[in-house]
Amino acid sequence: MKVFKEQLALNNYLETQTVDSIGLVPTMGALHFGHLTLVDKAVKENSCVIVSIFVNPTQFDDASDLNTYPKTLEEDLQKLTPYGDKILVYAPDVKDVYPETTSSNQYTFGLLETTMEGAKRDGHFQGVATIVHKLLSGFNPTRAYFGEKDYQQLCIIHQLVSQKKLPVTIVNCPIIREKDGLAMSSRNTRLSEKERAQAALIYATLNKSIALKTSTSIEEINHIVSATFNQNPDFILDYFCIADAQSLQPITTINPSQPARAFIAVKLGGVRLIDNVNF
Ligand code: PAJ
Repeated sequence: MKVFKEQLALNNYLETQTVDSIGLVPTMGALHFGHLTLVDKAVKENSCVIVSIFVNPTQFDDASDLNTYPKTLEEDLQKLTPYGDKILVYAPDVKDVYPETTSSNQYTFGLLETTMEGAKRDGHFQGVATIVHKLLSGFNPTRAYFGEKDYQQLCIIHQLVSQKKLPVTIVNCPIIREKDGLAMSSRNTRLSEKERAQAALIYATLNKSIALKTSTSIEEINHIVSATFNQNPDFILDYFCIADAQSLQPITTINPSQPARAFIAVKLGGVRLIDNVNF
C-alpha cells in the first residue's frame, strides 16, 4: 500500500507501473466494514485500486456537520493495509483538490437533485458531483465503486457519468448493515449507547413499510411511519418517501411493474441518519 497526498504524485507513480485496470473507491474516511466491501470488490476486479480519503467541504451545507465529521486517517490506513500492494491511497489536503476556490462546479440534474437529500441539504449534490468528477477525470479509473446506502448519490453519479460521457463503469454495491439492521455509517460512532440501540428502529420501520405494501395505501404507510417516529421524542423524522427507483419521484400507488424504493432520513440525538430499501 502506498499513500499519496497529491494527485500528481499518484499519477506519476502510476506511470511507472504496468496497470491493466484501475478501480476507484471514493470515501470520506472513518472507514467501516461497509466501505471495506467496496474496497474488497474493487481489489478483486482491478489490478490497482485507488482509495480516496477526503472529507469534501463543498458537499456540507452545515459547518458543524463538517467540523464534527470523524477524521481517523491512521486507523483508516491500518484497515486498508491487509489489501496489500494493489492499494494506492489518495488522502489530499483541501488545496490539492481545490487549488483556487473551495467551491462547487455547476451541474444540472433536474428533479433528481430537488428531492429528498437534495431538498434538505442545499448544494449537497453539486458538491458531491464536483469531487467525484474531479476524481474520475483526475485518475481515469476503469471502474468506480459506490454504495446503495447513498442511493440518491448513486443516481446522481450515473447521471454525471452519462452527461459528461466519462469512460468509466460505475459499480453499485449493496448496503452493509449491523446485526440489528442499522446501515453501517461513519456517523454511527457519534450515537450514544442508548441512541445506537434506538437506531435499529429505522431499518425495522422500513421493513414494516414493505410488509404493509400489499394491504395498505402509500398514503396510509406514510402516516404510520410518521406516527412511529413522532411517538418517540428522541427521533425527528426528516422524510420518509416511497419513490420510483430511477426518477426518485414519489409514487402514490403501488404498481408491481414499476421498481420502487423506500427512503428515510431521521435525526437521532443530533446525528442525521439515512437509509433505503428496495420496496
Ligand atoms: P462516504 O460516506 O465515506 O461513503 C463512501 C462510499 O461508501 C459511498 O459510495 C457510500 O455509499 C459507501 N457506503 C457507506 N456506507 C455503506 C454501507 N453501509 N454499505 C455499503 N456502502 C456504503 O459517500 C461519500 O463518502 C461521499 O459523498 C463521496 C462519494 C466520497 C464524495 O465525497
